[in-house]
Amino acid sequence: MNLTNKILAVAATLTFWAFTAQAATNDEIAKRLEPVGQVCVQGKECAGMEVVASAGGAGGAKSPDDVIAKHCNACHGTGLLNSPKIGDAAAWKTRADKEGGVDGLLAKAITGINAMPPKGTCADCSDDDLKGAIQKMSGLK
Ligand code: HEC
Repeated sequence: MNLTNKILAVAATLTFWAFTAQAATNDEIAKRLEPVGQVCVQGKECAGMEVVASAGGAGGAKSPDDVIAKHCNACHGTGLLNSPKIGDAAAWKTRADKEGGVDGLLAKAITGINAMPPKGTCADCSDDDLKGAIQKMSGLK
């Protein structure tokens, strides 16, 4: 790879990184706004409550689907930058075998590896959030 290609690859990575961070922010803002203006009548089911509960505030557990959609899919959805593709069990298994299983993959996802950014851009993901996303993308347990 010559220098120009390298710079282009890095620029592409940063663009996607910034893009996914932005998307997450917009989603989060939309979520926070959802329950506003909904009135709960005592004794009746409150439409807003489920959203509030699942949003969980800062540090609440995130669903694997949510983490993947907001963060991992930008690259792993298409195999961008040679990332292992979502659902490509063989590609993930090869990596898992090399790293010593899902926990080894998790360790690399936390620190980042080559073009893979630390925590896959999900800065407020817990280890468990990341692990859930890895298990879902790879089909590994
Ligand atoms: C900016 C693009 C990008 C995003 C966003 C991204 N990844 Fe990756 N990921 C990569 C690339 C590229 C690789 C392959 C790195 C290599 O082996 O050179 C990779 C590899 C991995 C690996 C395998 C590591 C190993 O040891 O082989 C795991 C696990 C992983 N990503 C998890 C995630 C998770 C979880 C998310 C979302 C929270 C995520 N990634 C988001 C680009 C991305």
